[in-house]
Amino acid sequence: MIMIINNINDVYAITMIICLCNGITDKQIDCAAKEGAVSWRDVHATYGKAPQCGSCQCEINKQISKHQAHKATKESAPSLSFGSSASQLAYES
Ligand code: FES
Repeated sequence: MIMIINNINDVYAITMIICLCNGITDKQIDCAAKEGAVSWRDVHATYGKAPQCGSCQCEINKQISKHQAHKATKESAPSLSFGSSASQLAYES
């Protein structure tokens, strides 16, 4: 794993290259997971790459699992809704 720290307009962004064989970063893995990748091979396929040594398999699968757990938590969380009809927004003086 390689960490790259970018400073763009005094905002630091850390990018980690997870797959050294193909240069796939942690952010690319997140994007692939958001687009439906559910496995190590899916992530590689998303970027037109083929897995090679396999060293990144565990880390990529771990990141996909975290994404899926986060997504499940967001979907099961109750949503707050506030009325927007005129009667609910009106107040008496
Ligand atoms: S590090 Fe990903 S296939 Fe080698």
